[in-house]
Amino acid sequence: MAQKQLAVVTGGMGGLGESISTKMADAGYKVVVTYSPSNTKYKSWLDEMKGRGYSFSAYPVDVVSFEDSAAKCAQIQKECGNIDILVNNAGITRDMTFKKMGKADWDAVMHTNLDSCFNMTKQVMDGMVERSWGRVINVSSVNGQKGAFGQTNYSAAKAGIHGFTKALALEVAKKGVTVNTISPGYIGTKMVTAIPKEILDSKILPQIPVGRLGKPEEIAGLIIYLCSEEAAFVTGANISINGGQHMY
Ligand code: CAA
Repeated sequence: MAQKQLAVVTGGMGGLGESISTKMADAGYKVVVTYSPSNTKYKSWLDEMKGRGYSFSAYPVDVVSFEDSAAKCAQIQKECGNIDILVNNAGITRDMTFKKMGKADWDAVMHTNLDSCFNMTKQVMDGMVERSWGRVINVSSVNGQKGAFGQTNYSAAKAGIHGFTKALALEVAKKGVTVNTISPGYIGTKMVTAIPKEILDSKILPQIPVGRLGKPEEIAGLIIYLCSEEAAFVTGANISINGGQHMY
């Protein structure tokens, strides 16, 4: 059955997204990646992937816009087939202390990280319910669970994601559709390596009991599990994957 399922991964060319997309393709899923319309490097990414043996369909989707999400999801379903799995992975940071944060920094993070979950999920949920099978996986963060210095916007958006997950999971639980949140900790992607080195070394790494950053493929492995038949009883969950940084 895995061969026939179509997965859409938002932000599918990014640090986590690339690993999620390639591992899902390795697992037999047909994967469509979406990327920000402002991403000018999408062609070279697709070429690089081709060189590695992956031929992804890719669509520019402004996940901040409900209209663009609707139009592109309709196009994807017409050109590639029904969307069975949605990984809401697209996200940004605009880290700064609350004192320095402006309304635009707040809005950008809320729109990209939280509104996007509504904008994209809205396009696929009715179809999943009609077909009695679906998986929605919302990528949150340890910092949505515990808060983070310099991330009032990001922590709020990521915490909001899990509220969305829980409410929607209740509504579709009897319909064969699961909705889950995963909360990665600090993973070795550009988003994390952009943190000033002295902050990473002195404030963050010492808080990770496993003693290292996570690997993107470790996140992808969890997503593949959540897509499986064996995970049909997991819904409304928020699964932490953070090297022991935050336990509750
Ligand atoms: N905990 C406690 N104190 C901290 C801190 C932390 N995590 N980070 C910074 N501080 C302290 C600094 O030590 C400094 O203290 P003093 O004034 O006493 O020296 C003070 O806060 C100001 O720090 P900066 O000089 O760094 O201030 P800044 O305005 O230049 O930068 C910042 C602030 C942008 C928040 C910067 O500290 C930073 O980038 N911090 C990391 C934020 C972070 O963890 N982001 C996560 C990104 S990864 C991600 O989001 C993925 C995911 O899901 C996990």
